[in-house]
Amino acid sequence: MFKKTIHKLLFFVLLVTTISACDIDPVIKEELPADNIRLVIPPGWPNPQYDFSTNPLTKDGFILGRKLFYDTKLSRDNTVSCGTCHQQFAAFANLDHATSHGIDGLFGTRNAPPLYNLLWHTNFMWDGGINHIEVQPLAPITNPVEMDESMNNVINKLQSDASYRLMFKNAFGDEMVNTQRVFLALTQFQGMLVSSNSKYDKYTRGQVALTVSETNGFNLFQQNCSSCHPAPLFTNLDYVNNGLDSTFADLGRATITQDPNDYGKFKVPSLRNVNVSRPYMHDGRFETLEQVLEHYNSGIKNSSTLSPLLSTGIPLTSQEKQDIISFLKTLTDNTFITDRRFADPF
Ligand code: HEC
Ligand code: HEC
Repeated sequence: MFKKTIHKLLFFVLLVTTISACDIDPVIKEELPADNIRLVIPPGWPNPQYDFSTNPLTKDGFILGRKLFYDTKLSRDNTVSCGTCHQQFAAFANLDHATSHGIDGLFGTRNAPPLYNLLWHTNFMWDGGINHIEVQPLAPITNPVEMDESMNNVINKLQSDASYRLMFKNAFGDEMVNTQRVFLALTQFQGMLVSSNSKYDKYTRGQVALTVSETNGFNLFQQNCSSCHPAPLFTNLDYVNNGLDSTFADLGRATITQDPNDYGKFKVPSLRNVNVSRPYMHDGRFETLEQVLEHYNSGIKNSSTLSPLLSTGIPLTSQEKQDIISFLKTLTDNTFITDRRFADPF
C-alpha cells in the first residue's frame, strides 16, 4: 500500500516535471553564454576553408541553427530531422542503419557520415558532389528518400511559428524567414561542431601518455594509414578507391565527374571518433574495426582505379591489427559527443 502510494507520487512528480519541461521555451539560452559560441581553431591545425566572415557567428544564430537541425518540420510529414540520421552519441553519424533511413521508412544507398570539423572540408558527401557547406542542407531536405520536402513548404511552416519568427529576428535583425537564413543558421550550428579533444589530442598537447599498445598502433598507423588519413583531420579529403570492390554498384566520385578514372573512388573519411561512428565505409558494409583492418590486411580487391598504395594490401599480424585499433580508439572525443551545446533542444 505504502509502496503503491510512493509509486503514484513518483509518477506524479515525473508527470509534472515532464509537463513543465515541455512548458519551458525549448531554447534554454542560459546554458549558452555568448562567449561559449566562438570558433576556436585548435592550435597547430590548418586554417579552415570556411571562417564565418560572411556569416557572422552569434549565439542566436547558433541556437536557431541547432533548433533547425533537430526539427522534424524540415521534412514533408514532420517525422524526420537532420538529427534523426546524424546522432550526437555517434559523432553525428548513424548507428542504427548501414544505409540511411529516411521518410516513410525508405532507405538510401549510402551510410550517413559523422559530422564534425566540416569547416575544413571544401566538398561534401561521399562523392564530393556538393561544394559549399551553406547549400549542403538542400540535398537532404529535398531528397525523396530523406526528408522529401520543398524549401517553400519549410519556409511556410517556420514563418507560421511565432517562436521561429522571434528566433530569426534575434539572429538576423527581423522576422523574415527565408532559405538563405535557414542555410546560414544551419551552417553556424554545423560549423561549430569541432572535435579536437580526444586522448590523442591530449597526448599531442603533452597532457597524457599513450599505452604501449596505443604507441605501437600509432607507429603502424603512421607507416600504413596516414598517407590517406593524416593528422590532424585524419583525412586528406581526397577521393580514393581503397579496394572494397572490383566492379562498382556505386560509381562514387565518377557520378559527379563522369570520368572513368574516378570509378569507385570515395571521399577519404576522417577517423576521428571512428570507434563510435560505425558502421563503416560509404555503404556501411563493415560493422567492426576488426573487419576494416581485415579488409586492409587480406580483402583488397583489384581494379584499374585501385590506389597504388594498396595494390599489395597492408599485411598485418593480429597483434598489429589490435594495436592499430587501440590507437584508433584514442581518437574518440568524449567532450564532443557529450557537449550539451550540440544536444537536441526539444
Ligand atoms: C535520412 C537520413 C539523413 C537525413 C535526414 C540527413 N542526412 Fe545528412 N547525410 C546522410 C547521408 C546518407 C549522407 C551521405 C550522402 C552521400 O554521400 O551522398 C549525408 C551527408 C551529410 C553531410 C556531408 C558530410 C561530409 O562529410 O561530406 C552533411 C554536412 C549533412 N549530411 C548534414 C545534414 C543536414 C544539415 C541535414 C538536415 C537538413 C541532414 N544531413 C539530414 C543522411 C541523412
Ligand atoms: C590509399 C588510401 C587509404 C589508405 C592507405 C588507408 N585508407 Fe582507410 N579509407 C580510405 C578510403 C577511400 C575510405 C572510404 C572508402 C569507401 O567508403 O568507399 C577509407 C575508410 C576507412 C575506414 C572507415 C571509416 C568510416 O567512417 O567509414 C576506416 C576505419 C579506415 N579507412 C581505416 C584505415 C586504416 C586503419 C588504415 C591503415 C591500416 C587505412 N585506413 C589506410 C583510404 C585509405
